[in-house]
Amino acid sequence: MKFNKTIFNTITIVGTQWGDEGKGKVVHFLSRDADYIVRYQGGNNAGHTIVIDGKEYILHLIPAGILEHKKCIIANGVVIDPKALFNEIKFLEKKGFYIKNNLFISDLAHVILPYHKYLDTIKETTQKIGTTQKGIGPCYGDMYSRSGIRICDYLENDTFEELIEKNLKEKYPLIKKFVNVNDLKRYIFKEQKKFSKFIKPYVANTTNLLLDLIYKNKKIIFESAQGTLLDVNFGTYPYVTSSHPISGGVSTGTGIPPFYINKIVGIAKAYTTRVGEGPFPTELEEKDQTFLRTQGKEYGATTGRPRRCGWFDAVIVKHAIKINGITELILTKLDCLKNINPLKICIAYKYKNKLLTEFPASRKLQKYVTPVYVQTEGFSQDIRGITKYCDLPKNVKNYVRLIEKYCQKEIKMISLGRDRNETIFK
Ligand code: IMO
Ligand code: MG
Repeated sequence: MKFNKTIFNTITIVGTQWGDEGKGKVVHFLSRDADYIVRYQGGNNAGHTIVIDGKEYILHLIPAGILEHKKCIIANGVVIDPKALFNEIKFLEKKGFYIKNNLFISDLAHVILPYHKYLDTIKETTQKIGTTQKGIGPCYGDMYSRSGIRICDYLENDTFEELIEKNLKEKYPLIKKFVNVNDLKRYIFKEQKKFSKFIKPYVANTTNLLLDLIYKNKKIIFESAQGTLLDVNFGTYPYVTSSHPISGGVSTGTGIPPFYINKIVGIAKAYTTRVGEGPFPTELEEKDQTFLRTQGKEYGATTGRPRRCGWFDAVIVKHAIKINGITELILTKLDCLKNINPLKICIAYKYKNKLLTEFPASRKLQKYVTPVYVQTEGFSQDIRGITKYCDLPKNVKNYVRLIEKYCQKEIKMISLGRDRNETIFK
């Protein structure tokens, strides 16, 4: 994976499934060669696990490049919970990572406030999505309904107080069973005093910063959170997150024109997982999920929930390739399929005897389609530690070839373990 010197030095990393594809590892791997790493959407609903020398780091807001001591940007498309940001910075500093001068936060990013989390909880009682309960949906909702509070508002005491008074008039009736209004206000203002002072030195016009970096031909990685099937437009609506994890989200999420986004790398896990509710055509029967869940350590990095597990679905990955304009694929967690025989890949769906090769928009179809599989022989060898593609067992290469065939895209890199060294170029 090389930066594209002839055009612009940017790489966009997107998830092709329902999140947790291993974006964190890939971004960390590539950030050694990069100058800046940028998060452009989502919030601390993301959980990016990176393993360095056997030590595990879970990041929720700050781009994985921080672990390579690179400069990082949290752009305007991200929603920021100030307390979560504070905790993450403190956690990283304790581990010896230098954050000051290495982190830039957009003054236009929207702020998650305590009432967003209450509203997230309430909404789950009438429409169960299985959200992370971090207030993500209600915060983006406020942005679109023009009630949002941005970082630049958060830093101005008088503006902030005025906006809170206005917002609570609208929201307090909905959340009053959780909290007393005066206690809530006191808490919100106390936190704002503390965190605004803390955040201020990091705040910048990150669009200007990015444009300047692009003109200087700096190498930039745009790091997505979540995945294409969780995109609010192109995912399994309404079982989605409230932002745009797709490559198109980079432009609105950072303020840079779309023609700078020209190298788009899709991350696909060698099987499929999903956390929370919603359709999942290739989901295994519960009793058959345990083996893969254990082998793949498939537990949510943000909420600890067991992830639902299933076969690789070429229909959704092809959908992601199209929507994102993916130029190359990276396959992760291939090692976790050891001792599963046979291996299956979904290549189409069937609904009432009709064959579907495109991911359907209808929620009814998404729920009731049955997958059409091809199958191939599994492998029993431990493939971690293999450093050359040609050294992989024949059955593993067959499986990779089938994925390429049915996704109609070449796989350029394969991850065979959590550490950066456990990565091979094809
Ligand atoms: P990373 O970046 C997997 C899911 C939640 C829920 C839905 C909506 O680690 O891939 P939200 O709290 O966003 O309103 O919840 O989206 N979800 C994720 N699933 N990986 C993630 O992030 C996710 N972030 C949100 O489980 O189904
Ligand atoms: Mg994750």
